[in-house]
Amino acid sequence: MSDTNLAVNGAAPLRTEPWPARLQIDDREVEAVMRVLEKAKSGQTIERYGGVEVDAYEVEFAEAIGTGFATMVSSGTAAVHTALGALRLDAGSEIICAPITDPGAIMPVLWGNCIPIFADSYEDNFNMDPATIEALITGQTKAIVCGHIAGHPCDMDAIMSIARDHDLYVIEDCAQAHYARYKGKLVGSIGHLGCFSLMSGKHTTSAGQGGMVTTDDEELYWDAKRFADRGKPFNTDEPSNLFLGINYRVTEIAAAMGRVQLQKMAGIARARQDYVAAFEAALAQHDVVCCKPSPVVEGGTSAYWFGTLLFHADKCTMTMAEYGAAVAAEGVPVGGNYESALVPTKEWINDMQTYGQTKEPWTSPHWKGDIEALDYANSVPAGEKCVAQLMRYGVHECQGEQDAADMAAAIAKVDAVYRA
Ligand SMILES: Cc1ncc(COP(=O)(O)O)c(C=O)c1O
Repeated sequence: MSDTNLAVNGAAPLRTEPWPARLQIDDREVEAVMRVLEKAKSGQTIERYGGVEVDAYEVEFAEAIGTGFATMVSSGTAAVHTALGALRLDAGSEIICAPITDPGAIMPVLWGNCIPIFADSYEDNFNMDPATIEALITGQTKAIVCGHIAGHPCDMDAIMSIARDHDLYVIEDCAQAHYARYKGKLVGSIGHLGCFSLMSGKHTTSAGQGGMVTTDDEELYWDAKRFADRGKPFNTDEPSNLFLGINYRVTEIAAAMGRVQLQKMAGIARARQDYVAAFEAALAQHDVVCCKPSPVVEGGTSAYWFGTLLFHADKCTMTMAEYGAAVAAEGVPVGGNYESALVPTKEWINDMQTYGQTKEPWTSPHWKGDIEALDYANSVPAGEKCVAQLMRYGVHECQGEQDAADMAAAIAKVDAVYRA
């Protein structure tokens, strides 16, 4: 086939049907929200205090994930902040962070006056590579915040074993991984705390924005709850607030919708797994050399917030960006990268302007580390390689077999032209 057959060069795209929209909401969410509003018409609160929906959602969420407790907050960022807040860490504590993640997983570390130290990733999987953690641990290291990026679980056995050896807390960031599993357990139930984003782009949502913190540890649960509500003295007889917190409270409306979404969580993850299985089977029917499905850690079952393909630059005459753009031009959602998530290279962290021009918390006398030696931008070579060779593809639960077949055929069409 010649390159004049490619849509990127003006030919007809392989897929002309519009891609299926993700239909997240149905009558059940509408009814749940209306139930709260109807009750409000006769004086019932829509605030969480005195309401029933948030309390019920928390209990149901904990039960679904397999933890003893859960507390709802206003976003995934708030969830990470709250989990860290529950740990009551000293300023200057070091937190081992995921290198490829959303800023919402890192910024709370800085707001807590702690120092992010980045583990490196694998070269073929966006997640933190546990083999890079131990060398980063100092006397000030207090926690690891690992992220199950793309919905692919981290190697939790290795991370938990390092944490046990060094007496560290583990916070699992499950924002992208609702109902992903690692060796039979759902993510969010393995570390000391789990954090979920419930914004509408995630597997499940609570009215467009929201977050949840899960834990098996009752003390951490109460401190998370207190932190997320200005240090209120929940579960104590104290008359006044206990410590500095913030207000991450949520409404009954959000929780009512979240409860319905929670019932869909397992099915959403399963539909995405089925989609990826159908896509990978379809891809295997074609002779494709420039990219292959990328690995998920042994024992892990991804919930596929998105899919990942490993690009083989040596087998291709084009760059990954050019190859991806040509596939996307065929009318399928394939080809993006995740460079935007390589946090240690980003200006917002390297300019160290969390608190004006003071360079706090890195200049804090509480931190014993060396600001000059940090060199965030050059600290994650595998991460740089990973974002340069992992290509993303769109996955959602409303995509079906024909979409999977078209995605694979579009890749094969481009591959035939661009292979070396
Ligand atoms: C891995 C990860 N952590 C945290 C967040 C922050 O969640 P939110 O946008 O709900 O604050 C996101 C959001 O995309 C995320 O992907």
